Amino acid sequence: MVSSAEKPVFEEIRPGVKIPAKETILTPRFYTTDFEEMANMDISVNEAELQAILEEFRVDYNRHHFVRDEEFNQSWDNMDENTRRLFVEFLERSCTAEFSGFLLYKELGRRLKHKSPVLAECFNLMSRDEARHAGFLNKAMSDFNLSLDLGFLTKSRSYTFFKPKFIFYATYLSEKIGYWRYITIYRHLEAHPEDRIYPIFRFFENWCQDENRHGDFFDAIMKAQPQILNDWRAKLWCRFFLLSVFATMFLNDLQRSDFYASIGLNARDYDVYVIEKTNETAGRVFPVMLDVNDPEFYQRLDLCVANNEELRAIVNSDQPGFVKLLRKLPLYVSNGWQFVKLYFMKPIDTTGLVGSVR
Ligand SMILES: [Fe+2]
Ligand SMILES: [Fe+2]
Repeated sequence: MVSSAEKPVFEEIRPGVKIPAKETILTPRFYTTDFEEMANMDISVNEAELQAILEEFRVDYNRHHFVRDEEFNQSWDNMDENTRRLFVEFLERSCTAEFSGFLLYKELGRRLKHKSPVLAECFNLMSRDEARHAGFLNKAMSDFNLSLDLGFLTKSRSYTFFKPKFIFYATYLSEKIGYWRYITIYRHLEAHPEDRIYPIFRFFENWCQDENRHGDFFDAIMKAQPQILNDWRAKLWCRFFLLSVFATMFLNDLQRSDFYASIGLNARDYDVYVIEKTNETAGRVFPVMLDVNDPEFYQRLDLCVANNEELRAIVNSDQPGFVKLLRKLPLYVSNGWQFVKLYFMKPIDTTGLVGSVR
């Protein structure tokens, strides 16, 4: 393997192994859940669909997809230092998110094995896919002489506990938004091959089909538990998860707009498109969608982006700690306020649309 790309400057645990990015409210999360409750779930009302999805997972369409070809055997020195740093960060974030899915699904596969064999096998096969995705991304990082120690990540990260229904809302959304993110980048680069700065993007087309199938699995699981979709609580929680997932992506991506620019994408336009598509998709199973076409939605998100930019400038300044804190406080309050206002924007009820093509 020719890998002469200069290593971007990051802190390392040991040579070539990157210290994982600091955990913040915006970094990918690791989850754990009530395994007992999930194992005892009655899925019989939608068992046929789940069984059909299991058959699809068994076929393993991407068994031979994740193979590095000769296009990887070249030097990436033509990437300028800033792009290289942003790209490695992109790979790290993606790898961490994929790996977090792997860990959760693997554990679910193990814990559900005896009581709920259909779900257990689905989780095992999804963990197979996520392991491939994470491994492929980590290998790409090594082309830049860096990688993640996934064993270290497993032990060092904190795990967020979610009850099963919250796991379903969150993972459903992260799979579907993952699908839209990968396919949008793929289609853009297919139309603009000159912007394809690295071969991994070529793999996104089949890759995103894995995420789409994973999302469909969670869609089917939620339909097997209609009580988590059809009451007023479900509406409030679905709004919360939609907003959290959209806002997190928007803030992350706009902070890294240089990376998207390096592959010819405008980060904001890209996010607006991915949010619109994911919102539409989610409306097929969730009882609500967000009204993302109301101009207030992006006005408030843009304000949070500006606040965060200011926050970073304060953190990087040489001022004493208490001055920094005083300056940061109103920005935190503003971000919190924007989130509350966004949450209370009138959503679009999709329950009346049940049974129709949504
Ligand atoms: Fe994945
Ligand atoms: Fe996935």
